[in-house]
Amino acid sequence: MNEPIERAAAELADEPSVLVCAGSGLSAESGVPTFRGDDGMFRDPDIARLTHVQTFASDRKEMMRWYQERREKLDTLQPNPGHLALIELCRTGDYTIATQNVDHLLEAAADEVGYRPPIHHLHGSLLVVRCHKCGNAFEDLSLDLVKLPTCERCGGPLRPGVVWFGESLPADALQKSAEAAERADVCIVVGTSGLVHPAASLPQIADQRGATLIEINPNPTELSDICDIVIRGKSGEVLPALAEKIV
Ligand code: OAD
Repeated sequence: MNEPIERAAAELADEPSVLVCAGSGLSAESGVPTFRGDDGMFRDPDIARLTHVQTFASDRKEMMRWYQERREKLDTLQPNPGHLALIELCRTGDYTIATQNVDHLLEAAADEVGYRPPIHHLHGSLLVVRCHKCGNAFEDLSLDLVKLPTCERCGGPLRPGVVWFGESLPADALQKSAEAAERADVCIVVGTSGLVHPAASLPQIADQRGATLIEINPNPTELSDICDIVIRGKSGEVLPALAEKIV
């Protein structure tokens, strides 16, 4: 019972209320690069600049090139064993997922498993296109953002439906995630550095409410110190091992 994974399985066995806080590490084994770390996209400071709202005004075309490239890769991505095991776990109790990821891999895993838990996209979605002016939003992967399309309703500039630095998170996703954090018995923090707020505040809220925090990450993070159980490993390996003990 001393192994962290055994302790985590014991916490999850009693159908607790669980908030899962996911970051880019969850999709790493599907071939989506993380932001930070040795292989992270932010190693290139020019890329970090492209995630800031101010860049949309100064270098829209360059910014759209980067996002369009990522949008075009979405069709080639597959959920990895971590996504699938997480959805299997969700079947066993009252689970809510708050993800910072802008891909659709959790939804793809949910379709594959045949069960869809509540999934809140705190940083929006690459599948969505939104008007920067009026907020009109719709799912459309065929639109080429590099061509600088405009909104049919108001003529404003269209952009990816993601959250940039300098912008607020979608209120509904944040509120529902915060509610899940407040009622959580267990909070699983997986594949995130815990550096970006308010997403990183959710495990802190759960912690303050007395939840047991479980971290799944090959590396130490900003949140490791407040986690009760730390499982050092890749989510594509740890989550299936954990699910196997419970499902
Ligand atoms: P980061 O790139 O900051 O952190 C990725 C985390 O995933 C690190 O802690 C890695 O150790 C871990 N990791 C890597 N491979 C893993 C694996 N196979 N299994 C589990 N964990 C693994 O990514 P996020 O925390 O998601 O926001 O970044 C948060 C936000 O910063 C992003 O949503 C994005 C970025 O700026 C915006 O653009 C608004």
